[in-house]
Parts: sequence; C-alpha cells; structure tokens
Amino acid sequence: MIKVTDVAYARFRAPDLDKMEGFLKDFGLERSARTDNALYMRACGTSHHVHITELGEPAFVGMAFHAASEDDLHNLSGFAATASPKEIKEPGGGKRVQVTDPDGFLVEVVYGIEELEPITVRNSFRPNSGTAYERKGVFVRLEKGPIQCLRLGHVVIGVSNFKKSNDFYKSHFGFLDSDICYEGDENNIVLAFNRVNRGKDFVDHHTLLTAPTGKPELGHIAFEVEDINAIHLGHEHLQSKGYEHSWGVGRHILGAQIFDYWFDPYGNRVEHWTDGDLLNEDSPTGVHPYGARFSTQWGVTESSRR
Ligand SMILES: [Fe+2]
Repeated sequence: MIKVTDVAYARFRAPDLDKMEGFLKDFGLERSARTDNALYMRACGTSHHVHITELGEPAFVGMAFHAASEDDLHNLSGFAATASPKEIKEPGGGKRVQVTDPDGFLVEVVYGIEELEPITVRNSFRPNSGTAYERKGVFVRLEKGPIQCLRLGHVVIGVSNFKKSNDFYKSHFGFLDSDICYEGDENNIVLAFNRVNRGKDFVDHHTLLTAPTGKPELGHIAFEVEDINAIHLGHEHLQSKGYEHSWGVGRHILGAQIFDYWFDPYGNRVEHWTDGDLLNEDSPTGVHPYGARFSTQWGVTESSRR
C-alpha cells in the first residue's frame, strides 16, 4: 500500500471545450493550458491543473491522486501489477501510474507535475465572531463576479459494488475511514468517507467518498473556496448566468462543510465548499445509519437535492 497525499485532478470528456471552459471560469477556475484536444484548468493553489476535459462524448473518466514520492509510483506499480511509471505527455509533465478501479474508472497516481505561482485570493476578510474579533479597522467590501476556487478537495463516486471498491481504494492508496454508514446491521457498511493518511498532519474529512448507487457514476467533484462570502457570491454569479443548480446552500453534518452544488453544461455535479472538518491519523471513525450520510445542520435539506 502507498499513502496518497491528496486528490490532484479530475478528468472528463466533453464535445465542446469552449463551453466547458466558459462554465469553469464562471465557477471559479482559470485556464492553465489548452491543446487541440484538451483543456486544463487550475485553481488558486500551485497545482498546474485540477480539472481536465478531453474532447469527446460527455463522460467522467476518473481522478488522480498525488503520490508522496517518485518511489511510491514504483511501489504502486509493483504491488498493483501494473506497468512502471510513465512520463505524462500533457501540459505540466510529471510522471504517473495508471490503474483502473473495479468499475473501470481511471485512477492516476502522479508525482512531479510542474507547480505554478499561486493566484492571489480576493475577497479575503477575517471574520468577527461573537466571541472572537479577528478583523479590526478593516471594512468588508466584496467584489461580485466569479469567485475563486482555491483547490480541488474531494471526489464522490457511485460504485456498483461498495465492498469491492472500498477494498480497492483502501488497499492501494492508504485511505482512512472518517465516517462510515451502515444499512440494517451495523456491520453492513455500505458507504465510506475516506481521508488521506498524512500521519499527524490534519487533512480534509474526506478526499474520496464511495457511495452504493449500484452503478458507476460521478457523484460530484468539490472545490474549496475562501469562506461563506465566496459560497454566496458564487451562488449569485452562477444563478445570474443561468446555470443549473443542484443543492444548497447548507451545512453538512458529516464533514461539516458549508456547501453549494451546481451542474456543469454536461450534467456533472460540481460543488463549492468551505470550512470543513480537519482530521488526522488519531481521529476516530464515526459510524452512522445510511440515511444520515447527507444530513444537514442548517440550510437546504437533502430532500431538495437534484
Ligand atoms: Fe462534497
């Protein structure tokens, strides 16, 4: 087993790259590179790209995770009985190992992709809560328009056989259970919120969620934004452009993110989120009935989800 350190990017196909790029700019990404047959979009962080669209029929192809070292690419190709690491012949370069998960999704594990200068984050103001004043003498004045995605945070996939997929991701990439959900008997685990294992370092509550939808499908991909201002400014901007809304604004229980979900022009669900729980290797695993998986602490409930 290797321990991946984070999700790197998600890979899609779409017939009109201009249309996808237009949506993603409104959603908060920026173009990093464009070739004759693919579009590479970045967030504010240093990753060269967090979203790839290849020219083709609409599809979710798969996702990539960061390896901790180039050695880990060799380790993975050894125990996953796959070919040795290959140069990535795409903008940003780097090396990768490619495997397919039990449902045929492409999983790339990457290392050494070029990093870019980070983009300055706009609309960043410290909050004044009722018990802690962190902003003194500074006025909140927010710029409207597209907000900025800071990074890709997680991917959610529907799987045809939860136990097979769960074994695959845990045994290859070292994921830990943050929260798991059961149906009927408490031992009948049917859904897992997976976080990466970076030891004592605190990481997102989930980087990958595998859900028992009975068929392989994208649930959503999710980008972290600055704060609740960005959630609402992003909502208003996407609404003004006539994009299709999915669910939100609300606050999850499991993971605790403040969320807002939209659809891209090809029906892929994409999420803005902020203020999620951070856990490390010592954090306990929560066990919940399946019905609790998308419950909210406030805001729009799951019954309105599209
Ligand atoms: Fe999410």
